[in-house]
Amino acid sequence: MSVSRLGFIILGAAKPSEWETFGKDILGVMANTNEAGGVFLKIDDHPFRVMVSENEQDELLSMVWEVDGIEAYEEISAKLSQAGHKVEPGSEADAEKRCVSKFFRSTDPAGNNFEVYHKRTNVGNLFQSPLDVKEFVTGDMGMGHVVVPAPNLDETRDFYETFLGLQLSDDLTMPGAGEGAPDMRIYFFHANNPRHHSLALFNLPIPSKIVHFMFEVTSVDEVGKCLDRVNAANMQLMASLGRHCNDNMLSFYVFGPGGIPVEYGYDGLQIDFETYEPTVSTVADHWGHLYNMP
Ligand SMILES: [Fe+2]
Repeated sequence: MSVSRLGFIILGAAKPSEWETFGKDILGVMANTNEAGGVFLKIDDHPFRVMVSENEQDELLSMVWEVDGIEAYEEISAKLSQAGHKVEPGSEADAEKRCVSKFFRSTDPAGNNFEVYHKRTNVGNLFQSPLDVKEFVTGDMGMGHVVVPAPNLDETRDFYETFLGLQLSDDLTMPGAGEGAPDMRIYFFHANNPRHHSLALFNLPIPSKIVHFMFEVTSVDEVGKCLDRVNAANMQLMASLGRHCNDNMLSFYVFGPGGIPVEYGYDGLQIDFETYEPTVSTVADHWGHLYNMP
């Protein structure tokens, strides 16, 4: 039994309103603020794919997985609690806020919070970009992907494979940045859909609990136009335009509000995992993606 897709993520931000501006003016997504000061980014017919709550730190508060059907949901929850892992049912009010029918909270062995739900509510309202972005690649493949730190890499990998049913797509090892720096290793996992990866685990600690999250558009021109907006706004890139080897994504990375990195990409591989053999890589990119870490 496995989760089907990444439903949405919950970010904490010192200044949530910055996400509304960034969302509308740079990413070209719909964004609105509620009475409590939270900001919601909408990229498709789901009510939102990013929820931003006011928080002392700019950080990832939770990644939220969607599972098809109540049976699978109950099975995943039972397996976690039988193994002694936290399964904390969400309140009705919190379910309503998330637009899900029912959910539970848990935490992986690296300390990353996640939630699981089995049905989204308020789905069906059309997406209309304020900047004429045609559409984002979502549907059965979920919101995109998220990469989180897991210094206890193998223990955390085992957890996601065992309890959430995620499966390895690629195991990437690269030399660390700078002399004497430890190797960087990233495990990429797919859920039960054709997206090359919905989650990746990074072997080094990151205070914000998020390496980046990714939205995918449907043409190279949408990527280029967004890059123009980033440059016009003098925003800092985390990585220049480039194309990844493992999922073939053509993308760039920009530091969003609070320094949270966002990957904006196009042309990600869709894979038939029935016949797929996970890859082992030592090269991340065909070209580009020159990193510029602060
Ligand atoms: Fe990525």
